[in-house]
Amino acid sequence: MFPAVFACLWVFLFLPSISPDLRIIKDFMERRKRRLLVTEGNAAEDPNLSLDELFPFTGTKQKPQMPDMVFQVIAYDSNLYQQAVRLREAVLRVPLGLVFTPDELAAEKAHIQIAGMIDGRVCACAVLVPEGSEMKMQRVAVAQDLQGQGIGGAMMKFCERLAADHGAEKVYVHARDTAVPFYEKNGYVAEGEMFDEDGIPHLKMWKLLSIA
Ligand SMILES: CC(C)(COP(=O)(O)OP(=O)(O)OC[C@H]1O[C@@H](n2cnc3c(N)ncnc32)[C@H](O)[C@@H]1OP(=O)(O)O)[C@@H](O)C(=O)NCCC(=O)NCCS
Repeated sequence: MFPAVFACLWVFLFLPSISPDLRIIKDFMERRKRRLLVTEGNAAEDPNLSLDELFPFTGTKQKPQMPDMVFQVIAYDSNLYQQAVRLREAVLRVPLGLVFTPDELAAEKAHIQIAGMIDGRVCACAVLVPEGSEMKMQRVAVAQDLQGQGIGGAMMKFCERLAADHGAEKVYVHARDTAVPFYEKNGYVAEGEMFDEDGIPHLKMWKLLSIA
């Protein structure tokens, strides 16, 4: 009687807790089997497929860790500023067939330039434009190969602290439709309807700094 009760308990309590591990072991065995087939030249798969495509990882996907970033205010027309302009032009304008015009860049003399750097290379940037008690944040860009690792979020926090230090109560952005989920995730709320800017839909979004 006692062994039967123990066996039932083991099945109902212990087995479910190790089932994810069993699945990982099963995945591993399956991938090993397929890898052997490939190395023996018997693979039915397209030989041009990458290893990742051939052996997709089916466990929990780990987000890449955010690299060590240093955020700082950079001087207009400095070497770092030139790097930042090149970065944001490549990320924001070139895909639209546009560049920053000399007039747009000249107007930036009065703005606050922010750069995020890894080992001296500018990998992220933003511009803050003081407008009374509000601060407009614009030209927000992260190098394409580094997006989705938390750099944009960290830059938001840096910019919001900086805006608060300059006495701003609120930060707002004209968010591209594709970037709306990013700003929502960082606590920005939408105002009004979508409108056109640079030929693509944008939405005004803002955040009160008292809750930053
Ligand atoms: C938008 C941008 C600045 C965000 O920086 P990032 O370092 O990639 O952002 P983070 O890693 O901190 O946050 C990623 C989150 O933002 C959202 N996000 C970022 N880019 C997105 C996009 N193009 N579409 C949808 N969601 C996006 C996702 O929800 C993602 O969340 P997840 O990690 O849970 O999937 C960056 O992706 C970028 O430069 N994009 C191209 C230029 C651009 O659109 N700039 C904003 C102009 S208003």
